[in-house]
Amino acid sequence: MTHSSSSDRARRTVVVTGGGTGIGRATARAFAAGGDEVLVVGRTARTLAETAAGHAGVRTLTADITAPDAAERVVAAAVEHSGRIDVLVHNAAAVLPEPAGSLTPGSVRTQVETNLLAPLFLTRAAVPALAAAGGTVVCVGTAAVLGRRAFPGLSVYGATKAAMDFLVRTWAVELAPRGIRAVGVAPGETDTGIGERMGWSAGEIARHQAEAAARTPSGRVGRPEDVAWWIVRLARPEAGYASGTVVAVDGGASVV
Ligand SMILES: NC(=O)c1ccc[n+]([C@@H]2O[C@H](COP(=O)([O-])OP(=O)(O)OC[C@H]3O[C@@H](n4cnc5c(N)ncnc54)[C@H](OP(=O)(O)O)[C@@H]3O)[C@@H](O)[C@H]2O)c1
Repeated sequence: MTHSSSSDRARRTVVVTGGGTGIGRATARAFAAGGDEVLVVGRTARTLAETAAGHAGVRTLTADITAPDAAERVVAAAVEHSGRIDVLVHNAAAVLPEPAGSLTPGSVRTQVETNLLAPLFLTRAAVPALAAAGGTVVCVGTAAVLGRRAFPGLSVYGATKAAMDFLVRTWAVELAPRGIRAVGVAPGETDTGIGERMGWSAGEIARHQAEAAARTPSGRVGRPEDVAWWIVRLARPEAGYASGTVVAVDGGASVV
């Protein structure tokens, strides 16, 4: 690990998985706008480059976070410039709807590996750098699994996200002696293009979003920036008394 000079010591290094699109893109740009150096990670070089274009401080790493060497590659790329990791945002996810009675092994594995195993191993690899920086892990879950809720058609995705909330609580306790905080953000329905990437038609997306807006007290679905705002704030030193908690950013949908 290289040593940073005193002039760049205040400049934090932030890692955002899934930073090529949606909430990850908005989050990367928001951190960079605040003066942080951001490494965005994803499998698609083109979308990562779009995130970085015109946003000083955003670097890209094309990587599949489920690959066996991914955690070490991500950490090495993050510390390459500054020697540090201050914030690790687990945002990348696979969402593959399937009824419980006809789950396919491939989709189950993809969701568990992307949404649960990859964050476990990436956090493990980043602990020394996070500890040195007094850093924060931010997990992006979903408001759909808050409380005693079911998630029909998305049992595996929901299970991985519920597990992530558990990791937030457990990491907050386990990693506190190392000076590391863990927090979660649970978005509600957010207009990110995720529906298109799940193969839904424009009509299906419009119908789905209209239904979501109608059952949301705020009367609308979220924008990626609505969620990014909270991720950035929770990772600030001023938020240092928050740990082990998951903040719903869902227009109130999870309390009705
Ligand atoms: N949108 C919503 O309504 C909503 C609601 C609740 C929670 N969330 C959560 O918010 C987070 C962001 O969602 P989003 O809506 O912004 O979705 P998105 O735009 O589809 O973002 C997911 C990102 O993850 C990346 N990714 C997927 N698998 C990967 C892998 N194996 N390795 C590296 N990167 C991978 C994708 O990029 P590549 O395909 O290029 O790798 C993509 O950029 C997710 O955790 C999601 O579960 C979203």
